[in-house]
Amino acid sequence: MTKPRPVGIAGSGFAVPPRRLTNDELAHRVDTSDEWIRSRTGIAARHVLSDGLETSDLAAQAATAALDQAGLAAAAVDAVIVATVSADMPFPNAANLVQAKLGIPPVPCFDLGTACAGYIYGLSMAALLIQAERAETVLLVGADALSKLLDWDDRSTCVLFGDGAGATVLRPCEAGYGLLGWNLGADGTGGEYLKVAPRADAPGGPRYLQMAGREVFKFAVRIQPRTCQAALDEAGITAEQVDWLIPHQANIRIIDAAARGLGIPMDKVYVNVDRYGNTSAASIPLALAEAAGQGLFKRGDNLLLVGFGAGLSWGAAVVRWP
Ligand SMILES: CC(C)(COP(=O)(O)OP(=O)(O)OC[C@H]1O[C@@H](n2cnc3c(N)ncnc32)[C@H](O)[C@@H]1OP(=O)(O)O)[C@@H](O)C(=O)NCCC(=O)NCCS
Repeated sequence: MTKPRPVGIAGSGFAVPPRRLTNDELAHRVDTSDEWIRSRTGIAARHVLSDGLETSDLAAQAATAALDQAGLAAAAVDAVIVATVSADMPFPNAANLVQAKLGIPPVPCFDLGTACAGYIYGLSMAALLIQAERAETVLLVGADALSKLLDWDDRSTCVLFGDGAGATVLRPCEAGYGLLGWNLGADGTGGEYLKVAPRADAPGGPRYLQMAGREVFKFAVRIQPRTCQAALDEAGITAEQVDWLIPHQANIRIIDAAARGLGIPMDKVYVNVDRYGNTSAASIPLALAEAAGQGLFKRGDNLLLVGFGAGLSWGAAVVRWP
């Protein structure tokens, strides 16, 4: 079999809404404390939508930054994929709204769910489009505003999440660079553990994000090393050869466990959960864009990206920085 066409990240960008919400502010609303939230999750603050901003506004802002960094005009985009579970509305797609906001030509645009694993799923699908020569330039955005789905009186969930978007531009690249391997998986029997549904005590009532925190925690700790190892095997590298682990930013204890499980030291792990909380599908591309913006990656660095979440769903990808 001939090797698939190499696909790399040509640009990245991110956006968060201006409204920053601290743990102390949350402690005025629910029975919690800055100390509890920091010690259990590593989160100090998160950003949330306000003043009429919507998920697609964040996505468009991140996408514009990614295209600018890639030195590409909107006219160069051959497909738009937005990974999101909190689009502005059930339809049209967030991807179509981004297309309209940026003036992207009438190319295929679609949303992809898969919650916090959405960006890794999107990365794989974008690469397949380019490898199949159906597209040269794919704009892939992870964007979520779970603040819209939270029960702000439920302390067990409302402290964990934040809103944001991260975007990457995928293009054919030099052989030996770009996406070297990926792994995806799902287990629908665990769907109950993290869902948007009416509360058990109000079956006809509004739908909120609900979570069995401990179950999700155990799942996350179990799945990350496995899916990472499968992606590393496909890429033909070992965990020792990873220069940067960019994990889904859900909880510092889950990130620590993933790094430990893979034998990757914490100084090779990019962490921003303290400032943004869990931004769902935005989390990985936001971290990637922020780290890239700080000039942390050098040519040839092996990046290991890993996501997990509702579904249950998971995925990992190995990307060699061009
Ligand atoms: C949610 C999570 C932080 C809870 O941490 P934990 O150490 O497991 O805490 P526990 O579930 O043992 O709860 C301990 C107590 O804290 C309480 N508690 C929950 N949220 C609280 C909060 N914000 N402030 C104060 N106390 C809180 C609980 O009610 C419980 O009280 P109880 O013992 O009286 O019943 C943790 O389970 C977690 O991170 N899970 C994964 C969540 C996640 O990442 N989801 C997204 C995946 S994409």
